[in-house]
Amino acid sequence: APLPFINRQNMLTLEILLYLTTINNKRFIMPENLPFEERYYQPPYKQLYRESLEEPEKFWLRMSEEIEWFSPFQKVLDESNAPFYRWFIGGKVNITYNALDRHLKTRGNKVAIYWENEKGESRSLTYFQLYNEVNRFAKILQDLGIQKGDRVLIYLPLMPELPIAMLACARIGAIHSVVFSGFSTQAVIDRINDAKAKLVITTSHTVRRGKRVELKRIIDEAVSQAPTVEKVLVIKRDEEIELNEERDVLYQDLIKRAGYKKVEPENTDSTDPLFILYTSGTTGKPKGIYHLHGGYGLWTHLTTKWVFDLRDDDIFFNTADIGWITGHSYIVYGPLQNGATVLMYEGVPDYPNPDRWWELVEKYGVTVFYTSPTAIRTLMRYGEEWVKAHDLSTLRLLGSVGEPINPEAWRWYFKNVGKSQLPIVDTWWQTETGGIMISATPGLGNYMLKPSANGLPLPGVDAEVFDEEGKPTKAREKGYIVIKRPWPGILAGVWGDPERYVKTYFSKFQGVYYPGDYAVKDEDGFFYILGRADEVLKIAGHRIGTREIEDVLISHPAVAESAVIGIPDPVRGEVAVAAVVLKQGYQPSDELRKSLIEYVKNTLGPIVVFSGIYFVTKLPKTRSGKIMRRVVRSVISGQSLGDTSTLEDETSVDELKKIVEEFS
Ligand code: WT7
Repeated sequence: APLPFINRQNMLTLEILLYLTTINNKRFIMPENLPFEERYYQPPYKQLYRESLEEPEKFWLRMSEEIEWFSPFQKVLDESNAPFYRWFIGGKVNITYNALDRHLKTRGNKVAIYWENEKGESRSLTYFQLYNEVNRFAKILQDLGIQKGDRVLIYLPLMPELPIAMLACARIGAIHSVVFSGFSTQAVIDRINDAKAKLVITTSHTVRRGKRVELKRIIDEAVSQAPTVEKVLVIKRDEEIELNEERDVLYQDLIKRAGYKKVEPENTDSTDPLFILYTSGTTGKPKGIYHLHGGYGLWTHLTTKWVFDLRDDDIFFNTADIGWITGHSYIVYGPLQNGATVLMYEGVPDYPNPDRWWELVEKYGVTVFYTSPTAIRTLMRYGEEWVKAHDLSTLRLLGSVGEPINPEAWRWYFKNVGKSQLPIVDTWWQTETGGIMISATPGLGNYMLKPSANGLPLPGVDAEVFDEEGKPTKAREKGYIVIKRPWPGILAGVWGDPERYVKTYFSKFQGVYYPGDYAVKDEDGFFYILGRADEVLKIAGHRIGTREIEDVLISHPAVAESAVIGIPDPVRGEVAVAAVVLKQGYQPSDELRKSLIEYVKNTLGPIVVFSGIYFVTKLPKTRSGKIMRRVVRSVISGQSLGDTSTLEDETSVDELKKIVEEFS
């Protein structure tokens, strides 16, 4: 039987409210008889939030003092070219100065990064060592001719050289674009070509579940179709590596030659681009979301403090991959600007055993743990014994991100990992928002949690839920979340496509940022994000567009047309299903089905998970020939069809229905 869609509104009525706070660093569940105001709004949060909206100039001026500027800005926010908002105009700042140089005096010998892999091999880098490595890497980049504004594509697994390479680019003002190493050839080609990258940084392989995953091979294939790439910088991991004499340069060779060189951070403008990170939207082509040194830098610095409350004795374990925004902001830029210690783990949670993460928490004394609902659901299935086997008493705060967390997963996480004591911050944000937007903020004394709610907006975040007409909904009425004014972490634009930026984010509702998620707000102002309102899937928390998958399917010689939709999945949250029309001369078969799935995985990446492919002779379409994905979705998930008056040919629905029934 199909699983019901995650329904957070239902959950609200099921759960009792929990009130958590800290008193002298001890966590207590707050008595319910306290007045509401005192329970929910601890002074720092309440005050800051109010000030951020009532006196934004003054507020941001004060907040900006938390990072160091080479020279001060003249204007907090430039709205003259809205919706292309620019923050801290005239200011000079380089994010790597705040992430590295700034800490040398006070915490140079403190560990910045712990790294470990599946086998238990480990490395650690102090702030001073990281600073050194970044400087040397920056020198190499300069020697390779990389200059300010050049784009560098990075295709690396979670190894220490990944953050080192990112910081090295940022240090010299080059723009990095990290591609998640779970993406395959076509995805890499599209991203290199869209960014017009000059240099690609990669390594031979990573190891996943004990098996070598060849990364360099994907780059070799991709670069042959990417004319802008001049060199490929290859980081050697073991002896097995094939180099292309003319194109490839070996990192280990260059680093030896570079010696210990200091590279002064580029005197970047607050509004200079820091990175491009591609993400999926409603068309086939991924969007190059780009962020800037000043606004993104300050936003990740502040949100790390406000939400995770990182202090000097914390060990922060964020299980995300740096190839996604979660890793950019909360493994690299946020924690490092705060001088925190992060743990990076190159591997999966359930290999060699389903207690791999808990082993790491125990070994490193992790205090703050940040993961995804999909990971929790995966680990839940192995049973709680795996958690119980470890001493997790160092933990003080848990986090969740990437997709709505369902009640069962929340409870399991709270009870087994948090021992029914620790707050779970359910942080809602996006690649586009740069940092966390809605969450509890323990760093501001606001530990107040309602299970299944993301929480209150962070200071500076003017969030609301709108109905179709752009009017605020009533409490607990479903609508679209919007952000009514810019915040420092707002995306600067879509790389090379300003129109798409305006169209995607600022045209559904006039003058407000539209994230594309459904949400409700309750009478206490708590937000509950309910899921995507567009053609974007969240497979295991990974964002992937249905059109992107369709484009790959129709590039297969057997496929004439396809419609891809998402259906709920008990572990991954959502998985893809396709209805496919074959070209003449091709017959439906299990074999063809398998090879299509394989083809998509090889082309886009193994993150695309299908629960099925249905072969049909025609797709439901409107009279003007548009594929009606909504109808496909209703038929496949067994829901009522809704309005089908624009449907051209009813028999397409009957056929699909029959085929779906045959299968279940
Ligand atoms: C989309 C953004 C933000 C870092 C990871 C994903 C969904 C994200 C939550 C959450 C409910 C969430 C939204 C959002 N999402 N966090 N805590 N609760 N939904 O970044 O790949 O850009 O995806 O992820 O649908 O729009 P992303």
